[in-house]
Amino acid sequence: MTAWWQRGIVYQVYPRSFMDSNGDGIGDLPGITAKLDYLAWLGVDAVWISPIFQSPMLDFGYDVADYRAIHPLFGALSDFDALLERAHALGLKVILDLVPNHTSHQHEWFRESRSSRGNPKRDWYIWRDAKPDGSPPNNWLAYFGGPSWTWDAATGQYYLHNFLPEQPDLNYRNPAVVEAMQETIRFWLDRGIDGFRVDVIDRMMKDPDLRDNPVDPDWKPGDNAAFRLKRVYSECGEGIHALIKIFRRTFDAYDDRVLIGEINYSTSPEFITGFYGSGSQPYGDEVHLPFNLALCMLPWDAGALRAFIDVYDAAIPPYGWGNYVLGNHDQPRIASKIGAAQARVAAMLLLTLRGTPTIYYGDELGMQNVPIAPEQYQDPQGINLGFSRDPQRTPMQWDASPNAGFTSGTPWLPLAADAARISVAVQGADPRSMLALHHRLIALRRADERLTLGAYASFDAPAGCFAYMRGDAYAVVLNLTGAAQTVTLPRSGEIVVSTHLDREGVTGAALELRPDEGVLVRLDG
Ligand code: GLC
Ligand code: CA
Repeated sequence: MTAWWQRGIVYQVYPRSFMDSNGDGIGDLPGITAKLDYLAWLGVDAVWISPIFQSPMLDFGYDVADYRAIHPLFGALSDFDALLERAHALGLKVILDLVPNHTSHQHEWFRESRSSRGNPKRDWYIWRDAKPDGSPPNNWLAYFGGPSWTWDAATGQYYLHNFLPEQPDLNYRNPAVVEAMQETIRFWLDRGIDGFRVDVIDRMMKDPDLRDNPVDPDWKPGDNAAFRLKRVYSECGEGIHALIKIFRRTFDAYDDRVLIGEINYSTSPEFITGFYGSGSQPYGDEVHLPFNLALCMLPWDAGALRAFIDVYDAAIPPYGWGNYVLGNHDQPRIASKIGAAQARVAAMLLLTLRGTPTIYYGDELGMQNVPIAPEQYQDPQGINLGFSRDPQRTPMQWDASPNAGFTSGTPWLPLAADAARISVAVQGADPRSMLALHHRLIALRRADERLTLGAYASFDAPAGCFAYMRGDAYAVVLNLTGAAQTVTLPRSGEIVVSTHLDREGVTGAALELRPDEGVLVRLDG
């Protein structure tokens, strides 16, 4: 038996930017529902929707003011129920985004907590006295700029926030907070959702002694100022694995739900696989899928990819299951990082590896970062630190109509200049498009279990090429260079698909790859 999320493919929707149904320029739930047929056609199994909850939107929903209410911009709870029903009717799973590390400053819990030192919810957040000189309790830096501590004049203490001052961190050393978050999880699982992607799950516990973080010796002026110190003590603190196990038990009380955890961006296989927990039960006892974000960080280099994937695949415990991510709402678009030609090679990589792939909306079209002028930045990370995530959050490009069919109003972020051409409608009609490539690779992955579950084993290829087997049946050979290359396969076979979508048929063991070409071969015998 294998779990649906093990065989499946996850598709991430950034709800503000997927489809606007009412002309206010912001994507919404009825918009997503209207496009579920497209996702079913594409062949993905699950849609993960970034936060849709009540929020002042200072971090565009990652600052939740009420975990159980839908933000009116996105619709009502009834719109969500309709989305869920339609998705399930189409055979699609729905994964929501849980943001437990912090709430919005507008959350009722924080309003109470900050109302007085004696409030019963005071200890739901992390409050500390100033140092004798009035400075913050330690040197920790927030991800979105400035110190991690903000002074509350009314009650004369500092509170902790890993992100914006308007995103105070909850105190998971208080069992009442753990229980409240479990109730939130149950609320949505009872409503029928198929799982959660949990935001910064490894950051929920901090060092109990709140020790100072050390300086990062690799940091240079010009780098993001929020990373001047290494986050040694401000996250992954003692008790984090025990806390995740408690969360997991809540999921295990339901059938077939998935717990995906966003952990730190890391290229250390040991770090990532440390979040499966123990093998006391199938799929471990912590996170089903600890997000493996290494492909977002590694240089686009065949040797570097092979070195990481070999070790990562081998490090996954026998009871665990791997996963791969090429992009998300926090990272530059893959097509902008490596170029349109190599983005096709990357798609073949993502969709033929052993591990659940997550596709970021629009990457199936090869959408690029859209340039946004600094005075138009919406993202607080851009406004405060200059590293805006807006370029990778622009509206989905549906067709050649105004605003690429995303909205009849004024879109909240500008559309790409080439939005009409790089669109679902245009690429859907082009048998060699990036969208056609995704459609084909997804269909192949679904049709043959050996492409999902088969063992992964890399084999030697010329410099600049990355080659691996899936099971004993398939070879994947990827040319990461702009020059022709000849790869030697274990034996002859049949070309199933090329990233150029223009060749099939028999091949000898010597396989000629064109520049920027990836090929999937079904081997003889
Ligand atoms: C995660 C989210 C990011 C958000 C941050 C704070 O990294 O992916 O978008 O800003 O957490 O919640
Ligand atoms: Ca709208």
